[in-house]
Amino acid sequence: MVVQPKPLWPLRPFLLPLVVFLLMISSNIASSGVQSFPEKKFLSLHKFQGKQKSGNNGSTSRSSCLSQKSRWESGATILEMKHRDSCTGKPLNWNKKQQNRLIFDNSRYKLIQSRLENNISRESTDALDIQIPLQSGVRLQTLNYIVTVELGGRQMTVIVDTGSDLTWVQCQPCQQCYNQQDPVFNPSVSPSYQSVLCNTSTCQSLQFATGKVGVCGTSPPNCKYVVNYGDGSYTRGDLGMENLMLGTIPVSKFIFGCGRSNEGLFGGASGLMGLGRSDISLVTQTSAIFGGFFSYCLPLTDADSSGSLVLGGNSSVYRNTTTISYTRMIPNPQLPTFYFVNLTGISVGGVGLQSPSFGNGGVLIDSGTVITRLPPSIYKALKAEFLKQFSGIPSAPPFMILDTCFNLTGYEVVDIPTIRLEFEGNAELAVDVTGIFYFVKPDASQVCLALASLAYEDEIGIIGNYQQRNQRVIYDTKESKLGFAAEACSFD
Ligand SMILES: *[C@@H]1O[C@H](CO)[C@@H](O)[C@H](O)[C@H]1NC(C)=O
Ligand SMILES: *[C@@H]1O[C@H](CO)[C@@H](O)[C@H](O)[C@H]1NC(C)=O
Ligand SMILES: *[C@@H]1O[C@H](CO)[C@@H](O)[C@H](O)[C@H]1NC(C)=O
Ligand SMILES: *[C@@H]1O[C@H](CO)[C@@H](O)[C@H](O)[C@H]1NC(C)=O
Ligand SMILES: *[C@@H]1O[C@H](CO)[C@@H](O)[C@H](O)[C@H]1NC(C)=O
Ligand SMILES: *[C@@H]1O[C@H](CO)[C@@H](O)[C@H](O)[C@H]1NC(C)=O
Ligand SMILES: *[C@@H]1O[C@H](CO)[C@@H](O)[C@H](O)[C@H]1NC(C)=O
Repeated sequence: MVVQPKPLWPLRPFLLPLVVFLLMISSNIASSGVQSFPEKKFLSLHKFQGKQKSGNNGSTSRSSCLSQKSRWESGATILEMKHRDSCTGKPLNWNKKQQNRLIFDNSRYKLIQSRLENNISRESTDALDIQIPLQSGVRLQTLNYIVTVELGGRQMTVIVDTGSDLTWVQCQPCQQCYNQQDPVFNPSVSPSYQSVLCNTSTCQSLQFATGKVGVCGTSPPNCKYVVNYGDGSYTRGDLGMENLMLGTIPVSKFIFGCGRSNEGLFGGASGLMGLGRSDISLVTQTSAIFGGFFSYCLPLTDADSSGSLVLGGNSSVYRNTTTISYTRMIPNPQLPTFYFVNLTGISVGGVGLQSPSFGNGGVLIDSGTVITRLPPSIYKALKAEFLKQFSGIPSAPPFMILDTCFNLTGYEVVDIPTIRLEFEGNAELAVDVTGIFYFVKPDASQVCLALASLAYEDEIGIIGNYQQRNQRVIYDTKESKLGFAAEACSFD
């Protein structure tokens, strides 16, 4: 069906040249009974006096943000999840922050693509790779979401990652540890800590989970691991077992990495929680308790926003506002520990895009990549349709990988086309209004469509975390399916 874009809503100029605050007024025209074609969502650009909310009052936000709450409900453990920007304490220039985030996002994207077989011929052509500045202390910027668990009776705030498997924390004695907020875990004072020996199958399973074999230490012959995150960040240490508490649920003999040498700024967190697909991931290790289910709702970056990581599959604990639609997980032998789904279509403002690349292989769904990357033919179609429907708005210069930008200074409310990602089995992810635009400038003079193109048609598409905000994303590893539903993220 051919549809005409609806004119923009009355737009009033705004006076205070300050910071933009996103506010959703209404996100679903169809359900409120108003004219529904083409589908649009309201985005309110609210400027307010004062500094941006996140990170300018370090002392208070830091102490509260590194101790997330948890609860037990209907057979599930619910961990409060926050964006770690709400924890960084130091105010960072908005522009710089947005720029850094995309630089590191690009390095994660490169890392994922480099694991593919067909990457060799392209290495020399991609001179940009080498220019990615990897300053010590600003690594792993893409892994953004944190939760608090208890290991060996100690609280640990860790970064959540669906793209890796080994859970680890920094351990004493440290050869090299970055600064963290909680005290560093000391296995020698924990009676329940046990080291894993290198002649065990657990140690051997590291090969699959981390790409590196576990090696034998000398007296005792314990299992030594290494995980490289590709952007220069790494953790090295001993594989150990310890009692883990997820909310109120104990997990005994949980296998984790006791990291003696760790490089990267993990946002002051104690370590990382690996939610990938291998045997060593937290999901697999706790599958007797939680049935191989986990789900999350990723909140916005400001200090007031909370989301949740739910371990366990009883859907009565979700706060979804639409029904859950499921799609099958697609196996990818080249990246076996990542989660892949079959993207079969995209619609913009209700208009379906055409591309031969839909349904070809899988796209990766990642909690760690920020910006969704689509095959060039799909991205081109999306951009064209978006521009057609979002017409009459002044454009702004491109920003790094984001090539479709607007100057929204002077607009109070804009009416933006909806974006729906469709998956095999009629599943759908309706991107929330907060996941469509990336605010490069806080005064809204440069606001970009938060999706980008892959360099090549046959690279792996990635559904990034920006487009997963305010969604319940459900991973059912037993039945190998992934579910989506809209949800306004909150912990309570
Ligand atoms: C931080 O916030 C607290 C309470 O909201 C306030 O008492 C304190 O003065 C603020 N600190 C700074 C540096 O703004
Ligand atoms: C799911 O939660 C509901 C509501 O608390 C409860 O009645 C039901 O028994 C639970 N189902 C399972 C399988 O635990
Ligand atoms: C892909 O490229 C990387 C270097 O960027 C190389 O180390 C790796 O072996 C290549 N992958 C394959 C499967 O050949
Ligand atoms: C592993 O080595 C330890 C001692 O180094 C030994 O006691 C144990 O039996 C070995 N286990 C296996 C499975 O070989
Ligand atoms: C949440 O999802 C469940 C499962 O699909 C569904 O039964 C329920 O109606 C949904 N809640 C709302 C408010 O749509
Ligand atoms: C994706 O789904 C489409 C439509 O159901 C199907 O034709 C295609 O073969 C699927 N692709 C993969 C890689 O499974
Ligand atoms: C954005 O638009 C406003 C008018 O609405 C204009 O004053 C300003 O110069 C523009 N900014 C940029 C960066 O183009």
